[in-house]
Amino acid sequence: MELYMPRTVIISGASKGIGKETARVFAAAGDQVVVFDVDREKGEGFCREEKAAGRKVDFSAVDITNTENVRSAVEKAANQYGGVDVLVNCAGILDLHSFSETTEEVWDRVMGINLKGAFLLSQAVLPFMSKNKSGRIINIASSAGRTGGVKTGVSYSVSKAGIIGLTKTLARMAAPDKVTVNCIAPGTTNTDMARQFSSEDTEAILRQVPLHSLVEPEDIARAVYFLASDSAKMITGICLDINGGIYMG
Ligand SMILES: NC(=O)c1ccc[n+]([C@@H]2O[C@H](COP(=O)([O-])OP(=O)(O)OC[C@H]3O[C@@H](n4cnc5c(N)ncnc54)[C@H](O)[C@@H]3O)[C@@H](O)[C@H]2O)c1
Repeated sequence: MELYMPRTVIISGASKGIGKETARVFAAAGDQVVVFDVDREKGEGFCREEKAAGRKVDFSAVDITNTENVRSAVEKAANQYGGVDVLVNCAGILDLHSFSETTEEVWDRVMGINLKGAFLLSQAVLPFMSKNKSGRIINIASSAGRTGGVKTGVSYSVSKAGIIGLTKTLARMAAPDKVTVNCIAPGTTNTDMARQFSSEDTEAILRQVPLHSLVEPEDIARAVYFLASDSAKMITGICLDINGGIYMG
């Protein structure tokens, strides 16, 4: 039997939702997970639960829009655990403003968290991966970035289209160092974020989903784990659609 080599995995936005489920999947496999999130209470609570179950999940208070905060937290994690093997850029916020009501502040906040945050984290982590000539970056985009969004605001859809662009650009740049970069575009997924839609809007979205159900966080978590696995070593620059068929790439 082959021995499993535990990895160090940084996951942003893992205090809840898709990121938390992804953290659970990696931790259950024996990896060291570091949760980067602004929600200390939820994040620390989650880490306590995981540790009590014998798994290795630590919390780091990080606002991914803050360059210094990101750099020092990545450096600390890399020193503490001997490098960074996997980065999952999952933190994000939803925007439901209409086009005409999208203020500059809304646009900047959504771009800051959803797009700049993933850029800053990738930039901070990449040198550690390049040094090892190995690494995986998995970004969480959205079907809104593929379709323009059924009910989401313009800043959200554009930030997620940007994540797809960032993924492809970085995949080319990091390939010489044997680092793969991919993204997943989830459809409406059963988390607090999707609960911001009214029930009428959720029904309107589901009517357009051929499989007619919400994606579960675990559906995304397992795909992230696959993209970080050896089985995916020749996959880079892709956007994997997991959405019940609302967008078929
Ligand atoms: N739920 C959906 O329907 C859906 C669909 C497609 C894509 N996505 C994407 O999946 C990702 C996860 O979404 P979710 O549904 O789990 O959302 P969620 O709201 O449940 O969790 C988001 C997490 O990000 C964290 N976060 C927010 N701002 C942050 C910041 N500045 N720094 C660090 N952490 C921050 C929050 O504290 C929270 O823990 C997001 O990028 C989202 O856009 C979600």
